[in-house]
Amino acid sequence: MIDLTGKTALVTGGSRGIGKACALRLAEAGADIVLNYVTSSAAAEEVAEVIQAMGRDVAVVKADVSEKDDCESMMQFIGEKFGKLDILVSNAATGGFRPMLAITQKNFEMTMKTNVMALIHLVQSGFRLMQKASGRAKVVAISSHGSHMALPMYGAVGGSKAALESFTRHFALELGDKNINLNIVKAGLVDTDSTRRIPYADQLFAARASRSMMGDRYLTAEDVANCVLFLSSPLSDLVQGETLTVDGGAAVHA
Ligand SMILES: NC(=O)c1ccc[n+]([C@@H]2O[C@H](COP(=O)([O-])OP(=O)(O)OC[C@H]3O[C@@H](n4cnc5c(N)ncnc54)[C@H](OP(=O)(O)O)[C@@H]3O)[C@@H](O)[C@H]2O)c1
Repeated sequence: MIDLTGKTALVTGGSRGIGKACALRLAEAGADIVLNYVTSSAAAEEVAEVIQAMGRDVAVVKADVSEKDDCESMMQFIGEKFGKLDILVSNAATGGFRPMLAITQKNFEMTMKTNVMALIHLVQSGFRLMQKASGRAKVVAISSHGSHMALPMYGAVGGSKAALESFTRHFALELGDKNINLNIVKAGLVDTDSTRRIPYADQLFAARASRSMMGDRYLTAEDVANCVLFLSSPLSDLVQGETLTVDGGAAVHA
């Protein structure tokens, strides 16, 4: 049984989708939650109410994780309220879906800032608080198959996920002996707000059963959150700089 009682967990992009599922799963396991969002205030407050009803301490923090100042302010708040940071789930992402020939500099920069630079801002500004963690501090970055596969319209996000995975491993090399584990959860297709916006979403969702080895049991945000829970817990203390794929086996076969 995983017991995170007394731990403080920050989940970025916790208002919706996979981030929301991670926040709820970590709270169920006993952690107090800092729930970050950038636009969905009402949705974030709703998630916080559920967490509060579980008897956990919860704080909702608006911060644009692509901005260094926002990350630093959020960490300052966490330091004042909780005094430490045990778990950081770097989940928030953006990017849009477009062909490689249509990627603009603005699109590239926004995607890399939100999906990659955010991890750097968060780990740098949270490092001091993670040094005060009870047990080993845990950082989990959320990635996708686009980091190593070429998917239609997914070049900008896929490239950012490849960079995210590499930065996570390099952080692991630097911080592994400083009481911090940094790992990656690589998720297959989950039905969320972002995937519903993919131009070819219908085909993607229709193809799920043939790609997965789980028949019509489709990957959910909760399945991803279960892997995040493992990598946030002492059960994974000896797992460092690794990527855990959760996709029902979709990536195993051609
Ligand atoms: N869905 C999938 O199939 C899938 C598969 C593999 C990996 N992933 C990864 O899983 C993560 C979550 O995906 P999702 O599908 O759950 O996305 P989603 O439903 O679109 O939710 C995105 C979340 O990120 C937040 N966010 C976006 N930009 C932000 C910023 N600059 N600062 C702070 N928060 C920000 C949003 O906050 P607001 O609500 O306030 O806008 C929202 O909570 C992403 O890293 C994604 O790449 C998803």
